[in-house]
Amino acid sequence: MEKFVIQGGNRLEGTVRISGAKNSVVAILPAVLLSDGVCHIENVPNISDVSVTLKILYELGAKVRKINQSTFEIDPTNVNSYTISKEMSSRMRASTYFIGAMLGRFNKALVAPPGGCNFGVRPIDQHIKGFKALGARVVIDNEMLSAKATKLIGAPIYLDMASVGATINVMLAAVKAEGLTIIENAAREPHIVDLANFLNSMGADIMGAGTDVIKIHGVSQLKGVNYSIIPDQIEAGTYMAAVCATGGNIVIDNVIPKHLESITKKIVEIGAEVELYDESMRIVMNTKPKACKVKTMYHPKFPTDMQPQITALLSLADGTSSVTESVWASRFQYTDQLVAMGADICVEGNTAIVKGVKELVGTSVSATDLRAGAALIIAGLAAKGTTEISNIGYIDRGYEDVVEKITALGGNIKRVSE
Ligand code: EPU
Repeated sequence: MEKFVIQGGNRLEGTVRISGAKNSVVAILPAVLLSDGVCHIENVPNISDVSVTLKILYELGAKVRKINQSTFEIDPTNVNSYTISKEMSSRMRASTYFIGAMLGRFNKALVAPPGGCNFGVRPIDQHIKGFKALGARVVIDNEMLSAKATKLIGAPIYLDMASVGATINVMLAAVKAEGLTIIENAAREPHIVDLANFLNSMGADIMGAGTDVIKIHGVSQLKGVNYSIIPDQIEAGTYMAAVCATGGNIVIDNVIPKHLESITKKIVEIGAEVELYDESMRIVMNTKPKACKVKTMYHPKFPTDMQPQITALLSLADGTSSVTESVWASRFQYTDQLVAMGADICVEGNTAIVKGVKELVGTSVSATDLRAGAALIIAGLAAKGTTEISNIGYIDRGYEDVVEKITALGGNIKRVSE
């Protein structure tokens, strides 16, 4: 078992380069199954969710070749299996995307229900509603979800909530279905647009991605392409929050500033100076953070995947902040760990009341999920003394080279074997 050991107190200075987006790549890699040719996927982050996705592709029969550090060649032409075991699917929430992709390719899929970060019930009823609307019969039996259709036929689908996963899964299943599919109340996150761009570059006919109505005219064939994954907006946001907590002056490179608008507005309110360039941004923080109100919502509003990191930052603010979670039923488990470091946080329903404290003090804490882990790193970097973070497998799911990147910024973090 490994853990991170952080000596807090260093200001962050320098440049950090952002990797490819986790939540894009875990959708785009399964989408390769829909291609009739070889795909080269670039800007693939070296994170464990990618390793699991590539392993699933390999086990299904795809040829997977690493071209360089961040480019993979995937040849799905010989894939003939449509089954994913519990052993694989339980390791990652996004394994559900193989249901849509395999339905789109074979008109059938057999997948064990997914794993992933644990923050309350994570239903997939909207995904199933979409598959059924397209003509699939969906049965859950012996802990396996089976979806089968004689033929998928495009249909109007209204999602009860703007679910990222359901939007992606319906896009994957509908792209080769016969006729027109219209997804209403679709999610608008940047990774939805990235997936649509990837599929369109292969020959799909998808319009409206990035708005709440997506129209998909089914096509019979998709060709192999070269495609580069967009930068990870949440990884960028995490470094923005980190420098605001420690103080400092950093350039965050390889970002799409538009994707970061809601986060940028919040850190400016908290006291940071931000300079935006075409594909990078400079964040300067020379004051104590100011308290503010944060409410998570679907894109383009403040993302739930930044909620723990901003809470860690606000635990050091001047005054009392409130952080309201509106996407997930339960995403505040990690606050106990911040409290162990001296934070003053009280969770009432879906709101955390965060009374800023003068300082956090390092201690032994445990990551309860991916973004919770990121929040503990931020707290550790800003805290007095030594913070030890266990359960770091969660952090490795979504942050490439986190130790190397923080070290290059002057933070003191080490990965050690327990
Ligand atoms: N929901 C349903 N039924 C469904 C689907 C979703 O009730 O069929 C509910 C969920 O319970 C939740 C809300 O709808 O309350 C939103 O869920 P959504 O489907 O949008 O989430 P997801 O697709 O499972 C993705 C990201 C999460 C991120 C959410 C929200 C991936 C692989 N995961 O999850 O990312 O929090 O969207 O933006 O894209 C992370 O990166 O740390 C992470 C957890």
